[in-house]
Amino acid sequence: MDIQKILVIGAGQMGSGIAQVCAQAGFDVKLNDMKEEFFQRGLANITKNLSRNVEKGRMTEDEKTQVLSRITKSLDLNDASDVDLVIEAAVENMEIKQKIFKQLDEITPKHAILASNTSSLPITEIAASTKRPEQVIGMHFMNPVPVMKLVEIIRGLATTDEVYKSIEDMTKKVGKVPVEVNDFPGFVSNRILMPMINEAIYTLYEGVATKEAIDDVMKLGMNHPMGPLQLADFIGLDTCLYIMEILHEGFGDSKYRPCPLLRKYVKAGWLGKKTGRGFYMYE
Ligand code: CAA
Repeated sequence: MDIQKILVIGAGQMGSGIAQVCAQAGFDVKLNDMKEEFFQRGLANITKNLSRNVEKGRMTEDEKTQVLSRITKSLDLNDASDVDLVIEAAVENMEIKQKIFKQLDEITPKHAILASNTSSLPITEIAASTKRPEQVIGMHFMNPVPVMKLVEIIRGLATTDEVYKSIEDMTKKVGKVPVEVNDFPGFVSNRILMPMINEAIYTLYEGVATKEAIDDVMKLGMNHPMGPLQLADFIGLDTCLYIMEILHEGFGDSKYRPCPLLRKYVKAGWLGKKTGRGFYMYE
């Protein structure tokens, strides 16, 4: 299927990044959020990233203007009535996602593919809220979207080969590398990443080393760009806890139990970079 028009739901960190890379690849993108201010914040983020590309000589001012002209504002889901693909990057809540997908199923053209950027919710369950589960798929981008190469593509139980192929091709067009995975809790990325982060938190909790030492071991010893505790702050400790709960519940295995220290930080509202304090302090 030839994808040209895309609607991205959610103008936050992930949604605005997705809209940016799609517009840079030449797609027409509608960036949807519930409020004008959310859209404007997302657009400001995109503009900042593109300006940096201009400063670094990777893009001309003219190209920047063209990319921005391909992004239009949407404050109404009915704007999905003429698109070929929707990429949903709203909050990680099954009830909300199912509600959105049910609406999209009614609004979008019959051929449209409905993708979710969920980091851990089952694609099959999201798909079950539509009458086209064969056209529902996971497109899990990584943060920061403009920088990270991976898109984990998750096949729901009913996703067809044809739909998978269209999304694989589209992912390559936006300059990313598609990796195919099946629909199991945490997919592959978070099934491996989150237990590592959780174990780093246990290591801190049990007093094995300081937070700086734990991060240094992984940065300098394993060549990770960020240590696990710094990365947890960057992702958001609430998100880390949420994903650990999904793994714990989904597999029923105690090896995925969230560290009590992680729970404590989340209860304290120390959610990481976004709240100014997590394992580290931020301005
Ligand atoms: N948006 C756009 N570009 C960004 C960015 C952002 N938010 N943050 C950094 N960049 C760019 C910078 O502009 C810079 O570009 P230039 O080379 O043009 O200068 C480049 O990335 C490198 O940035 P910095 O030099 O400032 O810092 P760095 O070398 O430490 O790189 C990083 C920053 C890319 C974030 C790097 O630290 C990194 O790769 N960290 C790990 C990220 C990671 O693991 N992401 C996955 C998180 S898990 C997830 O997303 C999935 C989930 O479900 C939870």
